[in-house]
Amino acid sequence: MTTPAFTPRVFSGIQPSGGLTLGNYLGAIKRFVQMQDEAYETIYCMVDLHAITVWQDPADLARNTRELAAGFIASGISPEKSILINQSQVPEHAQLGWIFSCVARMGWMQRMTQFKDKAGKNTQNVSLGLFGYPALMAADILIYHATHVPVGEDQKQHLELTRDIATKFNHDYGVDFFPLTEPVIEGAATRVMSLRDGSKKMSKSDPSDASRINMTDDADTIAKKIRKAKTDPDALPSEAAGLADRPEARNLINIYAALAEQTVDEVLADVGGQQFGSFKPQLAELAVEKLSPISTEMARLMADPGEIDRILSDGAEQARAIAAPILARTYEIVGMVR
Ligand code: TYM
Repeated sequence: MTTPAFTPRVFSGIQPSGGLTLGNYLGAIKRFVQMQDEAYETIYCMVDLHAITVWQDPADLARNTRELAAGFIASGISPEKSILINQSQVPEHAQLGWIFSCVARMGWMQRMTQFKDKAGKNTQNVSLGLFGYPALMAADILIYHATHVPVGEDQKQHLELTRDIATKFNHDYGVDFFPLTEPVIEGAATRVMSLRDGSKKMSKSDPSDASRINMTDDADTIAKKIRKAKTDPDALPSEAAGLADRPEARNLINIYAALAEQTVDEVLADVGGQQFGSFKPQLAELAVEKLSPISTEMARLMADPGEIDRILSDGAEQARAIAAPILARTYEIVGMVR
């Protein structure tokens, strides 16, 4: 339970480790935009310090950070309503991250499925940062005493760990200082799957570009990727239960529902009985209608990187005004001489 004394505050982040995908948009950004108009303070972050847990070419990292900021703004995140930052400009994240590295236990980290997936068989040769990543992620959230974190399904385990860290810190130091943050995992597309394999998550790091829709893809590319998306030979069912053993069909319907802001049952009431040959062009048309204004606006914003940098620098100043006193109090609790 979140302690009611905490200001309702949202924090979430995305790694600038490549382009934005439809998974990021439907699983995260769309909800970020809505939450700006709900009763929360909202802070959204390009987590550049997280991105370098795996190698990033410096020029690409800088470009991807600005492009991600452009993606946020083009999708409707307003610098007037939300604080928009890149993580490295708010040093309090890394400072609290160190303290949390000393709170979190090795065994907790070893259970993280994202680490296991990313490290694969290579556990001895990945960076120490990749292993400690969830402690920094907990710090991203708790340096603002954030109460709610909108994310896709894949981040659920990291958010449970964030609660474990807050609980252990509060317990060890005998305080009620860090809130137990609530994950917000909502909507029809909290886990968008690869277009090539319905058992794999759509990801910016998948080697196959055909597996994902990028926010910067043009209309023809989007239509082509949807036309080629893996499906099964059957017609679409009329009710959600009929999608149970059909991961690819379920994925395309979920994407449609999330883009159209309808429930899966509402979509199936319209398209049930159709073959993919007639459904896919409708999905492509909807995807282009929703995504192309965003990619056009991203391109416009990217033409003026100075303006993006100014927004991020303003954001960092506002963010530090919240984070600095929380870090100072944390140091005091821990016993650091100030
Ligand atoms: P990242 O950069 O992998 O993804 C950013 C957000 O997009 C969501 N997402 C998806 N949602 C649905 N379907 C998909 N296929 C899909 N792919 C990605 C993710 O769930 C996420 O919400 N560890 C985080 C970044 C992070 C963070 C934080 C998030 C660092 N600090 C603090 C929240 C709070 C990550 O790697 O997300």
